[in-house]
Amino acid sequence: MTVGSEEDLQGLMRIGRIVGLTIKAMQEALRPGITTAELDAIGAAFLAKHGARSAPQLMYNFPGATCISINDEAAHGIPGDRKVQPGDLVNIDVSAELDGYFADSGASIPVPPVSEENQRLCNATMAALERALDAVTAGKRINVIGRAVEIEAQRSGFNIIRELGGHGIGRRLHEEPRNVPNYFTKRASQPLVEGMVLTIEPFLTPGVGRVITAPDGWTLRTPHGAPSAQYEHTIVITKGKPLLLTAV
Ligand code: CO
Ligand code: CO
Repeated sequence: MTVGSEEDLQGLMRIGRIVGLTIKAMQEALRPGITTAELDAIGAAFLAKHGARSAPQLMYNFPGATCISINDEAAHGIPGDRKVQPGDLVNIDVSAELDGYFADSGASIPVPPVSEENQRLCNATMAALERALDAVTAGKRINVIGRAVEIEAQRSGFNIIRELGGHGIGRRLHEEPRNVPNYFTKRASQPLVEGMVLTIEPFLTPGVGRVITAPDGWTLRTPHGAPSAQYEHTIVITKGKPLLLTAV
């Protein structure tokens, strides 16, 4: 969506903050031995307490309130009885709706002891998101995001999972622009306009930059067991720095 009024902005800021705080609450509970279902229940309770509804549940009948993806799982991991292990790389992705407004955020959180590779992967993926956030300004094109992610991937030596990317958001979880690629392509030439609401979410891996769908029909994982990291914010495009709705 494009922000059209103060009411839009206030609505987006409300749900953005709730989504950011939900991830924080889940992150604080993350420790070896907790199951992903228990972690999800913490997120679900936090959303409910604030009157928000899980967007993947609402839009896609996802079997969980949040997506929790571990190690080689890149996205859409289903919460269940899997226990978090020391050294796991746990991605928590929360998207939710309040008063008809949607926000979406994610973070990969390494559980100690953190391997050197996982630490480098997290640092690089976070840096890719930061570079992309620095690149977006009204008047530029959407593909400045992919170019920024590519620069960081090249610098760090990790690969981009090209099938996964950001998206428009606001009145629905996924809306125009449908695809905000994490690599440079002339096709992503739509201009960024003031008030445009979208997510930026780079995915990097030391493995091949692809995902396959697991037999559960939801989980997207890397093909050869390599880990994946993702960091995501929902933002509003301005003439200057973007407004980060999900940063808390
Ligand atoms: Co997300
Ligand atoms: Co998203």
